[in-house]
Amino acid sequence: MNAPSSPRLILAPIRGITDSLFRNAYIRYFNGFDLAVAPFVTTMQSKRRKQPADLAPEKNKNLAVVPQILSKNPARFRELAATLATMGYKEVNWNLGCPYPMVANKKRGSGLLPFPDRIKRFLAEIRGIELKLSIKTRLGYHQADEIIELIDIFNDYPLTELIIHPRTGKQMYKGGVDLEMYERCLKLSCHPVIYNGDIITREDFFRLRERFSKVAGWMIGRGALADPFLPARIKNLPLPGDEMKQLRLFHDEMFNAYREILFGPSHILGRMKGLWFYLSRSFSDSKKLLKKIQKCKTIKQYTIIMEQVWR
Ligand SMILES: Cc1cc2nc3c(=O)[nH]c(=O)nc-3n(C[C@H](O)[C@H](O)[C@H](O)COP(=O)(O)O)c2cc1C
Repeated sequence: MNAPSSPRLILAPIRGITDSLFRNAYIRYFNGFDLAVAPFVTTMQSKRRKQPADLAPEKNKNLAVVPQILSKNPARFRELAATLATMGYKEVNWNLGCPYPMVANKKRGSGLLPFPDRIKRFLAEIRGIELKLSIKTRLGYHQADEIIELIDIFNDYPLTELIIHPRTGKQMYKGGVDLEMYERCLKLSCHPVIYNGDIITREDFFRLRERFSKVAGWMIGRGALADPFLPARIKNLPLPGDEMKQLRLFHDEMFNAYREILFGPSHILGRMKGLWFYLSRSFSDSKKLLKKIQKCKTIKQYTIIMEQVWR
């Protein structure tokens, strides 16, 4: 078990941002994360039994990664899990939390949460897969107490851990997190439970840890994208004297890497704008800065803005 001074920190999957390129650049300039859960791959993508390119072992040497699958089809889940096993993975995460209507309306991600029988059947049908299983979920789709019945089902399956984001699917990211319901889950689950949601500052983390001493680990997404030093701040790890310089090195590495692998300014700038959507929060006048970046249409314009930013 981790000593209280060294909490287990997990980088949350943020599709479109925390891909292997991000994870490798991140680990070069910042520290504090023990593990990352990768953004989901769907079993539709795996129809041709192709190995998911971003999960290739050679791209994932620097930070331990658990791949994540979004699926409601147990046969396809098994197939993709078998492919991941041949790639050397030992564990897979099942996404039961995605709130986006395109996903949830098809009873995938959090859209499956109001159907405990289907979840039970799914788990029964994937029992015995080669990989260990963890689940990332919300409290429910329509209502926060949908999880109560689900915890019983999860308790019957040998999960490595249960990651809970204490919102409903319908809430998306609006409104507050429901810490009362999270507390009930923590009491009812026989699996190690990970907390995930709205850890934006070091103070947020310590407040939550004070309340939930039984939590087995802490998953952080948007907070670490806005302040990449957050995990190091939480763990009291040494920070660089010049944080801005470090941010710049990280940014430049991402920018150059995307310029190498992506074709055309709109793709490259799309990725960088995705990054700045969060990172801008570390800067003064963040809204104005973000607006300026979002308006950018050419690489040249973007480079000029960046020169001003780092100056
Ligand atoms: C743009 C975006 C993409 C996301 N992609 C995924 C994903 O692929 N898989 C997943 O389980 N969660 C995904 N999430 C949810 C996050 O992993 C996390 O649960 C959520 O952001 C709450 O944690 P945070 O407050 O620390 O960011 C995504 C969230 C956002 C905002």
